[in-house]
Amino acid sequence: MNKCKKLAEYLVAWYPDHARDLPWRKDTEPYHVWLSEIMLQQTRVEAVKEYYKRFLEALPSIEALAAVEDDYLLKLWEGLGYYNRARNLKKAAITVVEDRKGKFPNTYEGILSLAGIGEYTAGAIGSICFDLPTPAVDGNVLRVYTRVMEDSSNIDKQSTKKKIREQLAKVYAKGQCGTLTQSLMELGATVCLPNGMPKCEECPLKTLCGAKEHDTWQQYPVRDKKKSRKQEDKTVFVLQCGDRIAVRKRASKGLLSGMWEFPNVEGVLIEQQAADVASQWNTVPKQMKMSVNYTHVFSHVEWRMTAYYLACSQMCEKFHWVTMEELEHEVAMPSAFRPFLDTLKRER
Ligand code: ADE
Ligand code: SF4
Repeated sequence: MNKCKKLAEYLVAWYPDHARDLPWRKDTEPYHVWLSEIMLQQTRVEAVKEYYKRFLEALPSIEALAAVEDDYLLKLWEGLGYYNRARNLKKAAITVVEDRKGKFPNTYEGILSLAGIGEYTAGAIGSICFDLPTPAVDGNVLRVYTRVMEDSSNIDKQSTKKKIREQLAKVYAKGQCGTLTQSLMELGATVCLPNGMPKCEECPLKTLCGAKEHDTWQQYPVRDKKKSRKQEDKTVFVLQCGDRIAVRKRASKGLLSGMWEFPNVEGVLIEQQAADVASQWNTVPKQMKMSVNYTHVFSHVEWRMTAYYLACSQMCEKFHWVTMEELEHEVAMPSAFRPFLDTLKRER
């Protein structure tokens, strides 16, 4: 039997007794699996759990998602990052409801045609929900596969992903497609770890694995060199007028589009310069209360921020002036600004 076929067989046998009990594994309803896979892109399982439950309580059906207000949708997604994921979910839900009478597509091509769904997600939904032989090849799967096979192809190449998807598709057996997809992910997440030493002794593939046999796991997977992150300095304004705080909405395009933020400008300003800017905005600043430094790391850029907390006497029209309550429960603010909000809460 070829190695890839054995890999599938061993994993499918291993999975039932080793799978974590995760909220999105309770059923194979396409809406649930879809939502979880979108949330899990770029986000840790532990972080996703609570978001997933809350999202489904708020929007229990595809119809509810299709009809949701954008601001509320972003509030539900607040802190998860990559907010276009949420916007695409709604867009795809509208397609399903309006063009498909609410019925989720049950073919790979149909699933792939929805907004925000790429080959990985289409493969995951196809195999988990519809028992299709469609592998879901993410970083976990690439790592497991290249180690077992001692395959030194560059996994950042589309051609490598395609080759691995095709190799795996051949060993997807009817009735077990969902299990194989999830077992590959599970092994990558809990045994053949992304950072640090894989737990080869407890791995169901240990008798098969080339990297284990030759102790070469550190050589796989082969990747492009990482580009270094751009660093940007920003000065952030936490402007308080009575019990209200100034926020503004970001542009509808680009990083964190459509999210709310504390007013900010490029570059590092000293206290006096910051007070001058606040004056130019017609907020009539009267007291500099404190400053807080925080660096937020995104995937491609790093914001090095200094926030000035200014008591003001005028709610200029340039900004929205919201209460703490509104800031907590209605305004969707990205994690980059969260530390400033937390400090504000503690100080009150
Ligand atoms: N990572 C991506 N998809 C996942 C899933 N369904 N379960 C656990 N981790 C995952
Ligand atoms: Fe990964 Fe070790 Fe299992 Fe090979 S034996 S797949 S390196 S955990």
